Amino acid sequence: MKVIAVVSAKGGVGKTTLAANLASVLASSGRRVIALDLDPQNALRLHFGVPLDSIDGLSRATLSGNPWQSVMFDGIDGVTVVPYGAVLEDDRRRFETHIDQHPQWLTQSLQNLRLDANDIVIVDTPPGSSTYVRTALTAATFALNIVLADAASYAAIPQMERLIETYAAPRPEFGGVGYVINQIDQSRQLTKDVLKVLRQMLGARIFPGVIHLDEGVSEALACDTTLIHYDPLSQAAADFRACGAWLMAALDAIAAPRSVA
Ligand SMILES: Nc1ncnc2c1ncn2[C@@H]1O[C@H](COP(=O)(O)OP(=O)(O)OP(=O)(O)O)[C@@H](O)[C@H]1O
Ligand SMILES: [Mg+2]
Repeated sequence: MKVIAVVSAKGGVGKTTLAANLASVLASSGRRVIALDLDPQNALRLHFGVPLDSIDGLSRATLSGNPWQSVMFDGIDGVTVVPYGAVLEDDRRRFETHIDQHPQWLTQSLQNLRLDANDIVIVDTPPGSSTYVRTALTAATFALNIVLADAASYAAIPQMERLIETYAAPRPEFGGVGYVINQIDQSRQLTKDVLKVLRQMLGARIFPGVIHLDEGVSEALACDTTLIHYDPLSQAAADFRACGAWLMAALDAIAAPRSVA
């Protein structure tokens, strides 16, 4: 099992969009993929056709002691979706206290699913530092940091690096961090300049392509689906596929040294 934590220091950069579309791309390559929502916004499920009025999810299941199997949905594109679920404010705080006090909660819950070595879990998280991000990084095999090519994203990179250093890097099975630049409009000179600086700063850790700004992304969400499903010939869908191939190579590179050892 490979656990990918999709994170960002800043909000609204495209974590949920990337988590959903990369899940779809990886599932289309034949891997079993679980898209898991650790964000109380409970929005990841919207990309996979989970009914809007469904309140089920991992928060509710955890509080009531039910197994996650009871809140796993067969989403479109063959992706298994575990929503956060809809909970009242008191229950949300109880749930957050629970996972804060049990740092191994996610690792343990995933182990209980008895997934195969090749199965992939993509975890969507809220922006910035929170108990959810700490939990996701504590279970992660790989962290995917989503950034925009703007000054605010650039300035916030060290904040997420510190979280990764603290919660993920000390574990021997953690395979590293990759960066994806989203919502690129190549017609803007500032975007091109910031992109250049980001590539210099992040070197080999950055996805060599970009995810373009594409109005199909929000159209797909309005239709309860991924862009991969909604408009496979669009620019951003091609970007997501290229990003998925890069991510798979990064995951395989993590496994390689251990299989040799
Ligand atoms: N490549 C893109 N092209 C066009 N629109 C995009 C793209 N990526 C994301 N968006 C839009 O940007 C908005 C924010 O995306 P998303 O919800 O995925 O970000 P997020 O990082 O998960 O946000 P949050 O921090 O609130 O969880 C959404 O309206 C989404 O449709
Ligand atoms: Mg989100």
